[in-house]
Amino acid sequence: MIEQIQKIEEEIETFNAKDTSDIEKFRIRFLGSKGLIKGLYALLREVPNENKKEFGQKINDLRTIAESKLNNLKGSNKKPVNKKSEEDLSKPTRADSVGSHHPLSIIKREIEDIFKKIGFSISEGPEIEDDWHNFSALNFPPEHPARDMQDTFFIQKGKEEIALRTHTSSVQVRVMENNQPPIRTISPGRVYRNEAISARAHCFFHQVEGLYIDENVSFADLKQTLLYFAKEMFGEKAEIRLRPSFFPFTEPSAEVDVSCTICNGKGCNVCKYTGWLEILGCGMVYPNVLESSNIDSKKYSGFAFGMGVERIAQLKYKVNDLRIYSENDIRFLNQFKSEL
Ligand code: PHE
Repeated sequence: MIEQIQKIEEEIETFNAKDTSDIEKFRIRFLGSKGLIKGLYALLREVPNENKKEFGQKINDLRTIAESKLNNLKGSNKKPVNKKSEEDLSKPTRADSVGSHHPLSIIKREIEDIFKKIGFSISEGPEIEDDWHNFSALNFPPEHPARDMQDTFFIQKGKEEIALRTHTSSVQVRVMENNQPPIRTISPGRVYRNEAISARAHCFFHQVEGLYIDENVSFADLKQTLLYFAKEMFGEKAEIRLRPSFFPFTEPSAEVDVSCTICNGKGCNVCKYTGWLEILGCGMVYPNVLESSNIDSKKYSGFAFGMGVERIAQLKYKVNDLRIYSENDIRFLNQFKSEL
């Protein structure tokens, strides 16, 4: 067998190609699916076990030699050039690389589109907020411990203390102040919390919060809206469950889980074998909150919900480290090219 390998190697090295058809002959003879090298691999079966490794290695080397010779032949072979066809000016130019949208923008848009379809408008507001819009109007009394739920960055502006908004519920206060029901709006945007940066927490992230106020809005409306959202976002099979929770501005309040998108609720390490993943907080708007913004709480009721865009992106793209979203690593961002 060694001799055979040597013979083939010599033949490869001395092979001369005059034109492309010779190159093709070379490829078929040595590297084709019925070629000599394939034949050697077939013979390998008959080699005693203790020699298999050595012979296998020799055949691999031979294949590498044949492949690089083939590449050389291709490279040095100048096809007869047809000037005219090469200079075809009507050919389109090479497309420029246009980059990609950030994954958080993609998900934010997806969330917006889902709610736009059922009549929600989009409202935006300032990232630097006053205490009233971020806390007081949302039923967080001064000094109330609930304020500690959201570690806030405060900025001293003269004598006044202002804050970086900790949630986009502040935008909804502004909407309520300036509009009478029916109100149906979502507020996407960046929010800030004074947290140590780790894989699971960051000092800024993104939210989409929703608000629906009209006559006779009920908890059942809230549940159906969220179920619709979960199915649009995660697929027809998605289910939701609500667990009682607390927010100062809603009563009753709930946290919402979606059936695990990885194992479809059967239990896996992503959902810690519970079958459920937490995606958002929600509840019925507290009458105080409506009254603070001059909405008649006897006539109107409403629901609100808020979700983290990073959290939804994490579930869709299975990216488990929050920090990657703001590092701008081009290798990460390039993976979202097809989602333009
Ligand atoms: N604003 C809450 C938060 O950021 C989320 C929320 C919104 C909860 C609306 C209930 C209702 O944590």
